Amino acid sequence: MNYPELEHHRKEHERLIIEVFNFKERFDKGVATKFELLEFLKDWLLNHVLNEDLKLKKNIFCE
Ligand SMILES: [Fe+2]
Repeated sequence: MNYPELEHHRKEHERLIIEVFNFKERFDKGVATKFELLEFLKDWLLNHVLNEDLKLKKNIFCE
């Protein structure tokens, strides 16, 4: 795939994984709630899918 923003996209996914692991640590310590995680995931997914994934889709299908 010749997607110019592939590395940026890959890093977005890596940051998500890191954030979820960080969240788990905070959750285990009792300083975060599952609702905060759900809110974070909802925001991340909406933003990522509607911006980054759509750019990727356009790149794939418009080449
Ligand atoms: Fe993605």
